[in-house]
Amino acid sequence: MNRPYIICHMVTSIDGKVTGDFLFRPECEEATEIYYRINRETESSGFICGRVTMEGSFTGGWYPDLTKYRPIIHDTGVKMDHIVDDLSGFYAIAFDTNGKLGWKSNRIIDPDGDPGYDGAQIIEVLSEDVDERYLGYLEDMEIPYIFAGEKTIDVEAALFKLKNIIGCDSLLLEGGSIINGAFERAAVIDELSLVVTPVIADKDSKPLFMNADTSDFELTKCEKENNTLIMNYKRK
Ligand SMILES: NC(=O)c1ccc[n+]([C@@H]2O[C@H](COP(=O)([O-])OP(=O)(O)OC[C@H]3O[C@@H](n4cnc5c(N)ncnc54)[C@H](OP(=O)(O)O)[C@@H]3O)[C@@H](O)[C@H]2O)c1
Repeated sequence: MNRPYIICHMVTSIDGKVTGDFLFRPECEEATEIYYRINRETESSGFICGRVTMEGSFTGGWYPDLTKYRPIIHDTGVKMDHIVDDLSGFYAIAFDTNGKLGWKSNRIIDPDGDPGYDGAQIIEVLSEDVDERYLGYLEDMEIPYIFAGEKTIDVEAALFKLKNIIGCDSLLLEGGSIINGAFERAAVIDELSLVVTPVIADKDSKPLFMNADTSDFELTKCEKENNTLIMNYKRK
């Protein structure tokens, strides 16, 4: 396979929603703990999140003052990937179309020190529609970046590079709804790992896959832990 094997790992409500306040209800705590445990136990090269999820979970909306950074412009006019030495280990891969994420370190600092996230090497996946000074900031921070698409991120092109340049064999796709939908439309989700919490979501919550089409999966595992269901599906 010329891309990493993709496992979409998510907590969902009974009605298949993945965003919103329901995730913070006490009834959802058990599912969240199980979700983090499965994240730690699943062997993978790292995890992928959309820009909004990375902001909510790790960067908190902070953004660098780009006037302090030199723009990275190559003579050819072509935007070039930037890979740092000693790339190995576990990756936190941000799908960040226009370079909106402000990182204070080149590795994830998880607020709870969860070994499933803490210390992961950050990789930025960008479209070419990005401020060149943001590239200067990433290079100063020693954060590798790859380009995949002109105005939006081409999921298949990004996955090709993640496999062939970075060396990722398998990755967890961990939301949210918008990025999951983009991956599902590209038909690159090989497996679903769902932790279902016994809650109905609020009316503004988004579905597991935003704007996805119909596709078929086969149930490969279904376990109950107290009030939580753990289900795995593989693409048919
Ligand atoms: N239930 C769970 O297990 C779980 C797990 C993770 C997150 N979440 C929840 O998910 C929420 C965020 O989800 P969300 O759906 O609003 O956002 P998201 O999927 O986290 O991020 C969407 C953003 O990703 C960027 N992106 C990069 N490439 C893209 C592409 N090819 N197609 C589409 N978007 C692309 C875009 O950023 P730009 O707008 O900058 O272009 C887009 O707006 C969080 O609030 C979090 O609580 C839940």
